[in-house]
Amino acid sequence: MEIAGTIAFVTAAGNGIGEAISRSLAARGARVAVADLDAAAADRVARDISGIALAVDVADRAGLESALDGTTKRLGPIDILVNNAGVAIGGGVEASDDEWERSWQINLMSQVTATRHLLPQMIQRGSGYLVHTASAAGLLTNLGAAPYAVTKHAVVALAEWLSITHAHQGIRVSCLCPQFVSTNMLAEFLDFPGGRELVGDSAITPEAVGKAVADGIEQESFLILPHPEVAEYFRRKANDYERWLGGMRKLQAVMDAAAE
Ligand SMILES: NC(=O)c1ccc[n+]([C@@H]2O[C@H](COP(=O)([O-])OP(=O)(O)OC[C@H]3O[C@@H](n4cnc5c(N)ncnc54)[C@H](O)[C@@H]3O)[C@@H](O)[C@H]2O)c1
Repeated sequence: MEIAGTIAFVTAAGNGIGEAISRSLAARGARVAVADLDAAAADRVARDISGIALAVDVADRAGLESALDGTTKRLGPIDILVNNAGVAIGGGVEASDDEWERSWQINLMSQVTATRHLLPQMIQRGSGYLVHTASAAGLLTNLGAAPYAVTKHAVVALAEWLSITHAHQGIRVSCLCPQFVSTNMLAEFLDFPGGRELVGDSAITPEAVGKAVADGIEQESFLILPHPEVAEYFRRKANDYERWLGGMRKLQAVMDAAAE
């Protein structure tokens, strides 16, 4: 897909990965609607890239839909929807119902809401591009964070399903699955017990992810893996699930030991 001349809507675009995706799309000629909970952050990015800023909490369904409609009115039909907002909530099944619900609403249901709102218009025009930010945690897992791993698996499933079902109607889908990226979210994860040991020096910059997303859209790649090694981990998981689980248990033990 040619990015130049398109209209893009990016959630959680005021910082981190969403900001980098917005900058990368704008650099390739897209007009970008920068949607974020943090209005000042959205303004800062939008000003820099001649886009528009929208203060949106993606967990607020009506607010998200009205931001999508407002963008269409101001800029024209949205060609590229980047469902990027996510929260990393740690813990196991003992995480509270509120924490599970928040993970579910922000990580998955906001993507359902925005996609459901735009898809009919995209199908009518015979073209549209959906980018779903999942995580390597959606293909593999996230040690120490069940609500995150589970909801990110759901995002991968959603993206797959949309790609299979709507490709013949001109809808293209990419699923972004990075491992560690140097953003505020990662800074918080480093403070989890054993987080620093797990991440080591493997984190990449948000700018590298922004470039990978723009390249992925241009090449119409379903899986966007800014860390190429994730493809190999995913292959190992599929090839021998039992062995993969054994390896992950060992890694969990290393994390537990580091936390003591
Ligand atoms: N950082 C990583 O290592 C990493 C790795 C894999 C996947 N991801 C995923 O990438 C996406 C972006 O992560 P990040 O690291 O850039 O995050 P981040 O925590 O740095 O936050 C980026 C922005 O999200 C906004 N935001 C938070 N909640 C929101 C909401 N309810 N509505 C609208 N905006 C909201 C914040 O205001 C902030 O500006 C997430 O879906 C995350 O799960 C991150």
